[in-house]
Amino acid sequence: MKSALITGITGQDGPYLARLLLDKGYKVYGLVARRSTPNNWRLKFLGIENKVELIEGDLTDLASIIRAIKKSNPAEVYNLGAQSFVATSWEQPILTAQSTGVGVLNVLEAIRLTDLSIRFYQALTSEMFGLIQESIQSEKTPFYPRSPYGVSKLFGHWMTINYRESFSMFACSGILFNHESPIRGIEFVTRKVTDAVARIKLGKQNELRLGNIDAKRDWGFAGDYVEAMWLMLQQSEPDDYVVATGRTATVRDMCQIAFEHVSLNYEEYLVIDEKFYRPTEVEVLLGNPAKAKEKLGWVPKTSLEELIKSMVDADLARVKKE
Ligand code: NAP
Ligand code: GDD
Repeated sequence: MKSALITGITGQDGPYLARLLLDKGYKVYGLVARRSTPNNWRLKFLGIENKVELIEGDLTDLASIIRAIKKSNPAEVYNLGAQSFVATSWEQPILTAQSTGVGVLNVLEAIRLTDLSIRFYQALTSEMFGLIQESIQSEKTPFYPRSPYGVSKLFGHWMTINYRESFSMFACSGILFNHESPIRGIEFVTRKVTDAVARIKLGKQNELRLGNIDAKRDWGFAGDYVEAMWLMLQQSEPDDYVVATGRTATVRDMCQIAFEHVSLNYEEYLVIDEKFYRPTEVEVLLGNPAKAKEKLGWVPKTSLEELIKSMVDADLARVKKE
């Protein structure tokens, strides 16, 4: 039986990827950082909390990653762990650089020191395009990161390429555009909105405070995007791929979809609060997933409308139970 090790298994993407790999017959291990309170609600949401084996370790602690690799003996390592909230990366830039940037190098080193035949997936991001240099971003678009998070990911990107070229490692970078789901962290804008819509509809909240609602994002569904991660590691050669939908929408558009789903008008509840503006903003992202389609046969299956409605429905169910 093939084994896989996933870092960041308690985050949004980890459980979707774990479920996909379990369905394909893998034995799935997850690296989990020690927290004072267990953080496995997302694994529970997908019904797989008893199907994965968790190993304690931290991306900033090389020895713990080496131990996790020795214990799990994986054919594939998916490095999804990171401090991934862009706004926090200005509050904690050094921690972000250590986990989101140097953490990638730690995993690459751990593989180099244990078993160079392990296939490696690195979770990279459209944030690296930042101040966009082309109106539609592909694998060939120059990078211009705009946050400590984006800069840290770019370090991880070049390290992944360097280890691939230096040591012939099967190392792939997935340059993923924003992807969301009912188990998205509450601080990210889609989930903040869908949670607020549920609370407003059920009379538990009366306004929604947001920052820059003119920002545009290319939003897809996390469950679709983890398939692209797996496909990258099944190819004959390692490579880098943009994963996106090819459609962009404003935060305002997304709010409209969410409120309309419960027959409310977002304009009656939205308050602009400068507190949520960022020191430097990524104004627009729009990805070109042509290479992923051609080489991996990957296409997104879920529309923005379906995605946001499913998130509102999940939040309505959650808030009703509180
Ligand atoms: P997420 O929900 O923020 O999850 C991040 C995971 O990393 C959590 O399990 C977290 O553990 C773990 N983690 C953080 N610091 C760690 C450390 N020092 N050692 C070990 N684990 C640590 O992120 P996501 O949305 O699932 O995204 C997965 C990956 O894709 C991230 O690398 C993110 O940067 C990248 N990405 C995401 C998107 C997107 O739109 N979702 C787009 C492009 C790229 P705790 O829960 O215990 O803190
Ligand atoms: N979070 C948040 N909260 N964002 C807001 C708010 C608010 O109240 N108001 C407006 N926004 C705008 C942000 O300024 C940004 O332009 C946009 O909504 C999306 O913000 P987030 O949902 O926080 O995501 P992100 O695009 O900054 O980063 C996400 O996607 C990246 C891929 O492009 C994260 O998942 C990153 O980890 C990921 O790499």
